[in-house]
Amino acid sequence: MRVLITGGTGVLGRELTSRLRDHAEVRILSRSHRSEQGFVQGDLETGEGLAEATAGVDVIAHLASAADYRRPQRDVKQTRRLVATLTSARPHLVYASIVGVDKVPIGFFRAKLESERVIEASGMPWTVVRATEFHDLILRYLRPMAKGPVAVVPRRAILQPVEVGEVADRLAELVIGPPVGRARDLGGPQVETMEELMRTYLEVAGRRRRVLAIPLPGRLGAMAGVGGSMVVADGDRGRLTFAEHLRARVATDGSISHRYHD
Ligand SMILES: NC(=O)c1ccc[n+]([C@@H]2O[C@H](COP(=O)([O-])OP(=O)(O)OC[C@H]3O[C@@H](n4cnc5c(N)ncnc54)[C@H](OP(=O)(O)O)[C@@H]3O)[C@@H](O)[C@H]2O)c1
Repeated sequence: MRVLITGGTGVLGRELTSRLRDHAEVRILSRSHRSEQGFVQGDLETGEGLAEATAGVDVIAHLASAADYRRPQRDVKQTRRLVATLTSARPHLVYASIVGVDKVPIGFFRAKLESERVIEASGMPWTVVRATEFHDLILRYLRPMAKGPVAVVPRRAILQPVEVGEVADRLAELVIGPPVGRARDLGGPQVETMEELMRTYLEVAGRRRRVLAIPLPGRLGAMAGVGGSMVVADGDRGRLTFAEHLRARVATDGSISHRYHD
């Protein structure tokens, strides 16, 4: 089986790549030139390299995202461009989406939902799986909020973070298996407020701070305003908690290694 992973150099993509290597011939699309075997240089924004990257593949795991919250339509255009490249082939398209894209009223999520629709209407066999936010991303949110003497978090934000490795396990099964359409959502084991997540972070890092929950403007504020929309209703739950994720990474000086974003 030949699998192309777009976004194979990203947080989720690296985890998925390592899980697929024993089961498939893996090809990774990246905008950068890499001399290692299996990499194809290309860009979903311009279309460069896409014909070569998609040639002869059985499955495309589409994980690439511009993560451009100001211009979210970029992801939709890139997904369209990827699908438009597939003129004669019919690979199984597997798309990584986010829990709550149909509920959270922000442009980035609406665009993500639109990308799902592009995959579903592609005429190719498809699978879409939605996951909640990865622990890595929560840590990235919390760090700057804990910089000052008081840790300020958005009030009413409710999240259910999941371990990225567990999402990659699920994706690997879906890539190797037959198309299933909408797969079951996957979330973390616990539903927690941002305040609770912040307290956990401060405790594990051994830092003393008062935590203040306030209404926040912007993306985080909008997400907070819709409360538990990013929580899985009848989906599956991973096992590793945010606290366990942090404890596995904390050094004796309280610093927490961040696998991908340091
Ligand atoms: N992070 C989360 O909490 C979370 C939760 C649920 C679902 N998801 C979804 O899971 C997917 C992966 O997320 P992630 O956090 O792992 O992403 P990430 O670490 O931000 O990686 C983004 C990837 O996209 C690729 N990329 C960006 N622009 C590209 C372009 N123009 N052409 C080709 N490749 C491009 C990058 O590759 P190069 O830089 O090598 O070109 C990189 O590998 C995304 O669709 C995301 O929405 C994420």
